[in-house]
This record gives sequence, C-alpha cells and structure tokens, in this order.
Amino acid sequence: MMMLWKGIRILFIWVQSVFFLQCSCKGYNPPDNYMLDCGSSTNTTVGDRVFIADDNSESSKFLSTPQDVLAISSSNSNGDSPLYRTARVFTGTTKYTFPITQKGRHWIRLYFSPFSYNSYDMSSAKFTVSTESFVLLNSFTTTSSVVKEYSLNVTSGSLTMTFSPSSNSFAFLNAIEVISVPNELIQDDAALLPSGNYHGLLDQALETVHRVNMGGPAISSLNDSLWRTWLNDWNFLVAKGLATNVSNIDAVNYIPGGPSQNIAPSTVYGTLTEMNSADNPSSNFNVSWQFNVDLGFRYLVRFHFCDIVSKSLNQLYFNLYIGTSMVVSNLDLSTKAFNTLAAPYYLDLVTDLTDNTTLHVSIGPDTANGAYPNAILNGLEIMKLNNTMRSLSGDSSSVPSGSSSKSHVGVIVGSSIGGFLAVVFIVVLFICCQKRRRRLARQGLTKTWIPLSINGGTSLTMGSKFSSGTTASIASSLGYRIPFMAVQEATNNFDESWVIGIGGFGKVYRGELGDGTKVAVKRGNPKSQQGLAEFQTEIEMLSQFRHRHLVSLIGYCDERSEMILIYEYMENGTLKSHLYGSGLPSLSWKQRLEICIGAARGLHYLHTGYAKAVIHRDVKSANILLDENLMAKVADFGLSKAGPELDQTHVSTAVKGSFGYLDPEYFRRQQLTEKSDVYSFGVVLFEVVCARPVIDPTLPREMVNLAEWAMKWQKKGQLENIIDQDLAGKIRPDSLRKFAETAEKCLADYGVDRPSMGDVLWNLEYALQLQEAVLLGDPEDSSMNVIGELSPQVNNFSHVDANVDASVSATAAIHAQEDPAIDDLSGVSMSRVFSQLVKSEGR
Ligand SMILES: *[C@@H]1O[C@H](CO)[C@@H](O)[C@H](O)[C@H]1NC(C)=O
Ligand SMILES: *[C@@H]1O[C@H](CO)[C@@H](O)[C@H](O)[C@H]1NC(C)=O
Ligand SMILES: *[C@@H]1O[C@H](CO)[C@@H](O)[C@H](O)[C@H]1NC(C)=O
Ligand SMILES: *[C@@H]1O[C@H](CO)[C@@H](O)[C@H](O)[C@H]1NC(C)=O
Ligand SMILES: *[C@@H]1O[C@H](CO)[C@@H](O)[C@H](O)[C@H]1NC(C)=O
Ligand SMILES: *[C@@H]1O[C@H](CO)[C@@H](O)[C@H](O)[C@H]1NC(C)=O
Ligand SMILES: *[C@@H]1O[C@H](CO)[C@@H](O)[C@H](O)[C@H]1NC(C)=O
Repeated sequence: MMMLWKGIRILFIWVQSVFFLQCSCKGYNPPDNYMLDCGSSTNTTVGDRVFIADDNSESSKFLSTPQDVLAISSSNSNGDSPLYRTARVFTGTTKYTFPITQKGRHWIRLYFSPFSYNSYDMSSAKFTVSTESFVLLNSFTTTSSVVKEYSLNVTSGSLTMTFSPSSNSFAFLNAIEVISVPNELIQDDAALLPSGNYHGLLDQALETVHRVNMGGPAISSLNDSLWRTWLNDWNFLVAKGLATNVSNIDAVNYIPGGPSQNIAPSTVYGTLTEMNSADNPSSNFNVSWQFNVDLGFRYLVRFHFCDIVSKSLNQLYFNLYIGTSMVVSNLDLSTKAFNTLAAPYYLDLVTDLTDNTTLHVSIGPDTANGAYPNAILNGLEIMKLNNTMRSLSGDSSSVPSGSSSKSHVGVIVGSSIGGFLAVVFIVVLFICCQKRRRRLARQGLTKTWIPLSINGGTSLTMGSKFSSGTTASIASSLGYRIPFMAVQEATNNFDESWVIGIGGFGKVYRGELGDGTKVAVKRGNPKSQQGLAEFQTEIEMLSQFRHRHLVSLIGYCDERSEMILIYEYMENGTLKSHLYGSGLPSLSWKQRLEICIGAARGLHYLHTGYAKAVIHRDVKSANILLDENLMAKVADFGLSKAGPELDQTHVSTAVKGSFGYLDPEYFRRQQLTEKSDVYSFGVVLFEVVCARPVIDPTLPREMVNLAEWAMKWQKKGQLENIIDQDLAGKIRPDSLRKFAETAEKCLADYGVDRPSMGDVLWNLEYALQLQEAVLLGDPEDSSMNVIGELSPQVNNFSHVDANVDASVSATAAIHAQEDPAIDDLSGVSMSRVFSQLVKSEGR
C-alpha cells in the first residue's frame, strides 16, 4: 500500500514537473494582433487564424485614404491560399494605420499574389512600401505569389504603412499582418564578422530573407508559435551527397533559461542535416548551403543547434563558417546548452556588408579532439538589416516618385542632416581624442587607455581565431560621454547629502539628468592608477553587455581627469542592505529566490553570452542591485576579465576580489575561471539564506567566516539550524534543500567540481518551483526522486567534500591587506578579522 501511494505521488509530481517544463512552451499571446484579408467581404480562416474582412467599415478604419482604394475579387482562385483570392488596388498614396497597444518589435507580413482584374494587371504594378521610419520595399514588382516578412521595433503608439505607386502605376495588397513579437526573440547584440560584436539590433528593422529547417520538412505558419514559415534545406545544399538527414523530434529538451519554443519549434530543433561521415571515420569535408542575398547589406544570421545525434556529452566538435570566415571553431554544444544533451542553442552573427550575391554557410568537423568527425546544423535564419538610409530595399538608388515621395523626402532629408551632424560629431570627437591622447601620453597612461582592450588585445568575439583586433575601441565607448557640467547639475554639484554609497572606487551620488532620468553617479578618486584601469574596464564591459540583469551604464565623464560613471538608478539599493544591517523589512523566501535567479541570469549571460566568457571577479551581495520591483541586476564590472581562450582553461592574473567571497582555488593558483564567480555566488547564496555578513569578526571563532560555518551545517544536513529566523517555517524543506545543495556545490574546492552558472540557474529555478508548487502529501521526501527523473543533468554535480579550510581564508586575508581592491569590510576592523582568522588556522 505504501509503495502504491509513493508510486502515485511520484507519478503526480512527475506530471507536474513535465507541466512545469512545458510552461515555457505555451503558445504566445500577442498584445497586438492584426490580420486583414484585403478586398474580402468575408472573414477568411487559415488554419486556426482568422483574417478579418476589410471590405467593410469595421476594418477599413485602418485605411486613411479609402477613396483611392478599390476592393476586387479575382474570378478564379489564385494559388492555394484563400488569402490570394482578393486584393486591394491603390491608385494613389494610401496609408494603413494600426494602433499599437504595446511598443516593441512587431511582425509585418505583406502578402502579394498578382492577378488581373479589369484593366489592372497586378504583375505590372510597381510601388514602394514604407513605415514612418523605414523603407520596406522600393519600386517593388512581382509576378508570383510572395509573402514579405519584416520585424521592427515600434516605438510610438501607432504604426503607419504607406503604399506609394510609382508614376503611371499602382499598388496592390492581398493580405497584411501586424503582430507583436515577444521580446526574447531579438537581443540587442550579436557577434560581428570579421571580428567584434554588433550592438543595436533592437533598433534595426529586419527582413526575413531565408528561414530554413535543416533535415526536416517545411513548416507552415500554422505549426509555429509565431506564425513563421520554415523551408526544407535541400534546395540550398551545395553538395547534396555530402549530407544526411536526422530526425528525433521527441528528444528535444527545452530547458528553463535556454531558448524557448518561440525561438524555434521542436520540429526545427528535432531535425538536422549532418555530415555523411558514417562510413568513413577519416572523413574531412564541409557541408555547405548557399543563399541569395542583396549586395551592400548586413545580415543577421541565426544558427539553431540541438545535438540529437550524440549518445553522450562532449562527443561532437565542429567548425562553423560563413563564406571563408571561421565563425566558431571547435564548437562543443554540450558546453553551450547547459550541459544537457538535445538542449536547443542558437547563435547570432551579423555579417559584414555583403560583396557577393551568394552567402555560403558551412559546417565541418574539428578533428583536433579525436572525436568522430561530424558536424550538424538544425536550422538557419537569415535576416537583412536596414542600411544607413533606413532602407531594406535592395534597389535603394531610386527614390520613390510622384505623390508618394513626401515621407521619403523626409527620410532622406532627415538622414542627410543626420549624416552631416554625424560627420561633425566624429570630427569633434577625433579632436577630443587627440587632445586626450596627448594629455594621457604626458601622464604616461596611453597604454592602458588606447585601445581599450581587455586582456592584452584579445577580444570578446565568437570565434577567437579571427579576432586580432580589439572589440570595443574607444570610439564605441564615446557614445556614452556626458559633459562634466551636466554631471554637476545632475548631482546638485556633488551635494554631500546626495551620497548614497561609498565604495573602494569613490563616492556614489544619486542624481537626475536634465530629462528627468534618475541616475546613480559614481565619482572616482582621480589619483588612483588602479582606479583608472577599472574605470576603463567598467566602461568597456558595460557598453558591450546589455542585459536585463546587468546594471546598465548611461554614460561616463572623463573631463578634467574625472572618472565618473553614470548608471541607471536602482531604487532599492543593494541586496546586502535587504539582508542585514540596515533595518529594511525582511525579504520573503520567494523574493530572495527571484533575486538570486536574476543575478544568476546576469552572470550566466556574462559567462556565456559570447564565445569568450567574461568573469566578473567581484560577485558579492553588495554588487547585486535591486530596482523598484526588486528585480536583481549585477553591478560593478571594474574588475572583470575576459575569460580563457577556447584552447586554454584559465586566465592567469593577480588575485582581486572581495574578502569572504574569494575562490580558494583562484587564490592558491592565481588562475581565474568562470568557476571563481560560481564560488563567490555560492557564498552569496548562503548569505541570502542566513542573512548575516560573510565575515563577522564579532562572532565566536568558528562562526566568523560564513562559507565555512554554513558548509559545516550543510554537510550535516542541518542548515535549517542557522537560517534567517525570519524565514523559519516559511520555506518548504525541499526548496531549502535544493537551494542549499546548489550553494554547497558552488563552494566545491576545485572549480571543475562546481556547477556552471547555467546549472546554478536551473537549480535555483527549480528551488523556486519547489517552493511554489502545491505538491500532494509530504514534500519532505519528494524532491530528489523527482529531480532524478526530470533530467539527468540536474543531479550530475559530483559530490565533492567542499572543504573550505581556514588556512586558505587566512592567507586570503593577508593578501587582502595588500590589495586595495578589497573593500567589503564596511566598518569592520581589518586587524581583528585577520587575527581571528589566523587563530582559527591552528584549529
Ligand atoms: C469577422 O471577425 C470579426 C472579429 O472576429 C467580427 O467582429 C466580424 O463581425 C466578422 N465579420 C464578418 C463579415 O463575419
Ligand atoms: C525598442 O526600442 C527602444 C528604444 O531604442 C528600446 O528601449 C526597446 O528595448 C526596444 N524594444 C525591443 C523589443 O526591441
Ligand atoms: C502541422 O500541424 C498539423 C495540424 O495542425 C499537423 O497535421 C501536421 O502534422 C503538422 N506538421 C508538422 C510538420 O508538425
Ligand atoms: C532529406 O529530407 C528531405 C526533405 O524531407 C528530402 O527531400 C531528402 O531527400 C532527404 N535526404 C536524404 C539524403 O534522405
Ligand atoms: C571548410 O570551409 C572553410 C571555409 O571555406 C575552409 O577554410 C576549410 O578548409 C574547409 N574544410 C574542409 C575540410 O574542406
Ligand atoms: C561571388 O563568389 C563566387 C564564388 O563563391 C565567385 O565566383 C563570384 O565571382 C563572386 N561574385 C562577385 C560579384 O564577387
Ligand atoms: C538601421 O537604422 C537605424 C535607425 O533606426 C540605424 O541606427 C542603423 O545604423 C541602421 N542600420 C545599419 C546597419 O546601418
């Protein structure tokens, strides 16, 4: 009977967990969702989507010049889509205006299927389509059915699309969609070819030119959560005999924190094209696809991967090329996709301006690892970026004519004035740079300042192979420069009563910019040479990394040898201040978990957002800030380092960081890996659950160092004895257990035994689920069983006796004395700490 109950319970929990895993796959519900069947007097259903009839007053309200419009029906049905049976013809400039309820990226899909009606032969129609900001089509003609898909960020309350016939011609349209796109779909940055990073994708208008499902069937818009169409890759393959298909759709394992179904459906991730190398273990060739593109544009290329062919992790190593450029060498999907087999992963890359009308994408084996030669690709999207003329049309030389030209004149005049200003701006900057360079040269500082390179000239790029240049040059940081006068004004001339914090770097003031933006202003001590290096690192890091969970830099000021950094203002201060010592109300367990999850996301992004990991080096609760909604953002990148090259495993560097959070391995071997951040984050986790300082010299000896103290209790399985009293009885035991185990694993002695930030994130999310889930029966003995069944990856941390011994901490303390970067002992007498720790060494 007992067995039966247990079985039922496990089954129930399993069902719940499966449900939990599927949460992220729920259909997307767009806030704006317009679908019109142009010229039709009846609603048209395509699958489960209803395109509204627009030949009535209800939907023709979107049309601003209805007198120019003719709604017509073709006598014979045209093509296979019911949308192609009717069209509207515009003989003069016509506007469609859609109210936008939620600003942000939207799809625009335009359906064209020419047919003849009366004197109108639509295959001879020639026209231009533009929005307020971008030209989508210029002098467009088509003789066959085509759907044009765009996505652009709508930043006002409406979207207007203008159809302008060329002289003596007319325009037509069969159907139109304007639909919100989830924010996760397009991120602001991507790797750039031939080197560096591309920032500012959020502001780009994109046109989808190819969307391909490798090794699988075409997928219609009805089988895609965002109504995208995917084609089979067969016709794009260059040497078809070199490739084979694989399909295992059920294997696809979407995991929280990774790409969701909205990025691409399992029908894309579950099929792939691989090298036809099964019969020959010495195969060495590339599988290539070729795509037509327009000359003179940049393209965003998104590669979708999901390793459904390997039997275990770390079996597949391959290279990825665009044209002859290496995009990534020695790609190991296991490390990219949360150490989970068959977990989706995608990679974004922006090409250089195209100088050829074919774009080749190739994959080939990386033989260096001795693994069986193979290479895979599951899906590919190629999206055109608008050019500097804000146009997506290949034929941008001809300016639209006639009655239509007004809006374009605006665009063109606007961009020429913009161009002129840009030139003036660049000249001024150049002069400033020169001046500054001379001044710095006098101070002997040029080397550290120009170029602003991280880690001796290597850069944060996808494929380190081709990146000899630096990523963020001084020029790319200059966009953020703010005049000293403005900073003075914003901080009421550095009013002492506006100081909100004092750190190693200097004072932090609250402030308000001219436009009312609240900011935090960090003013460095100009005399410190170390400060200068950190100042530059911080500017460089923050201008490259933009993420919800990283504090964003609004600007900086380096006039008059000032070192001032201006950040977004974080209403709720540091995580530390909410844990102890400041009398703020205690956070609930759920709030704490969400904060940890946010911070883990920020760090995970730093570690994996680019092929080259960035190590924060100073993870602590005082560097995790909270906004007005208590959303966590990681701050203070002054110490960050670009992580190891792909072929190395660590960065050798002088020990820096904050006392109490320092990774003992880093300390012993002076070798830095992402796992040093994981260690520090583990300390933060204990701090969060125990709500006490990481070093508290007023306590009895064995309690001084939180990491040691908490590990001692955790190993006995009795952490609950030392947790924050405010949490007592409010944490579900299995949630606490998961959380504590995660923290424990982070504190493993050796980096290799610690989980990755992605694993930590996963486990924290799981702890949150365990807290929230309403489980049947006693939650005490459920979590472990369930997790085992959920995913083999969850339980795969090796159980190492993480023995953070006092001698390490003591030496760390001594080192700390020499290192001015260590500043987290707010108000605590250093010498007392040291003596406590040195004493404890002999324990
Ligand atoms: C079409 O659908 C819309 C919304 O679903 C509805 O308001 C409208 O009455 C329908 N029109 C016709 C002609 O059926
Ligand atoms: C749209 O653009 C605005 C302003 O550039 C930006 O703040 C916002 O994040 C963008 N949104 C999306 C979804 O791209
Ligand atoms: C697409 O969806 C239809 C039903 O909506 C289904 O019959 C079909 O098998 C699906 N195709 C794929 C490739 O999943
Ligand atoms: C791969 O799949 C495509 C589409 O399903 C098919 O046309 C092609 O013949 C397949 N190729 C091989 C080698 O099986
Ligand atoms: C694969 O393509 C790249 C880029 O064109 C080339 O450098 C490489 O030599 C090719 N590899 C093989 C095995 O042909
Ligand atoms: C484009 O590249 C191909 C080789 O891939 C070459 O034969 C052709 O000449 C190039 N075209 C142009 C316009 O450069
Ligand atoms: C696309 O247009 C935006 C203006 O919204 C501009 O900032 C950007 O530089 C353009 N993209 C390219 C690649 O020129």
